[in-house]
Amino acid sequence: MRLIIVGPPGAGKGTQAESIIEKYQIPHISTGDILRENIKNETHLGKEAKKFMDHGDLVPDHLVVALIQDRLSREDCKNGFLLDGFPRTVAQAVALDAQLKKLGIKLDRVININVDDDLLIERAVGRRVCKTCKATYHVKYNPPKEEGVCDIDGGELIQRDDDTEKTVKNRIKVYHEQTAPLVDYYRAQGLILNIDGSKAIGDVFDQIVKGLA
Ligand code: AP5
Ligand code: MG
Ligand code: ZN
Repeated sequence: MRLIIVGPPGAGKGTQAESIIEKYQIPHISTGDILRENIKNETHLGKEAKKFMDHGDLVPDHLVVALIQDRLSREDCKNGFLLDGFPRTVAQAVALDAQLKKLGIKLDRVININVDDDLLIERAVGRRVCKTCKATYHVKYNPPKEEGVCDIDGGELIQRDDDTEKTVKNRIKVYHEQTAPLVDYYRAQGLILNIDGSKAIGDVFDQIVKGLA
């Protein structure tokens, strides 16, 4: 299965990705996670990306396109993948199409998670992420058994640097301006699977599984 998951910040892309990759046994490729890893390791890419991510702006297309070209050419993507947070501009989608054409493969579906803006801020600001395994929690909607501690591996739960109300508001604005046009781009290819992301986490996953069947 070759899938893309798109939606505004805090829509639940990463949360659903955790269940999707387990069910379909495909790698989860999140450009946000890869960029944050680069920031942590203080790579050249990380230093460049940080300037944009701290404000909630998009990292320039050429940097993320190069990153994805490298990632998709690895062995584990042979039988499928789930792209989360990429593409994020029409230019990135065009670059991805060109690469897939070269590889002789096609996308199966683009999962579009719809959530109204007013729900997104609360979701992002209340998010907590495991420092070790990156599992995602929410203080109200998906709390860990013990506050501040990951259920899976006991890792420390932290807040992302860009999950402040001010930065989230800018990320939502950037989404509407630069990423929402992707939905029309993929609708024209007949690939869009619309999902109501305002429902509970398990319900959203059920909609996805039904839609992909
Ligand atoms: P990225 O990491 O992709 O962030 P994002 O798109 O802003 O999305 P989020 O990860 O914030 O939200 P999500 O949809 O994954 O929600 P989650 O499941 O965690 O990108 C970060 C930055 O990197 C960008 O701003 C940009 O600078 C840069 N970047 C990345 N890719 C790029 C690209 N291709 N080009 C250029 N720049 C790029 O859920 C959120 C919270 O809600 C959690 O607490 C969760 O528990 C809770 N929750 C989830 N589902 C539900 C539900 N159904 N009900 C209640 N709560 C829920
Ligand atoms: Mg995410
Ligand atoms: Zn963990």
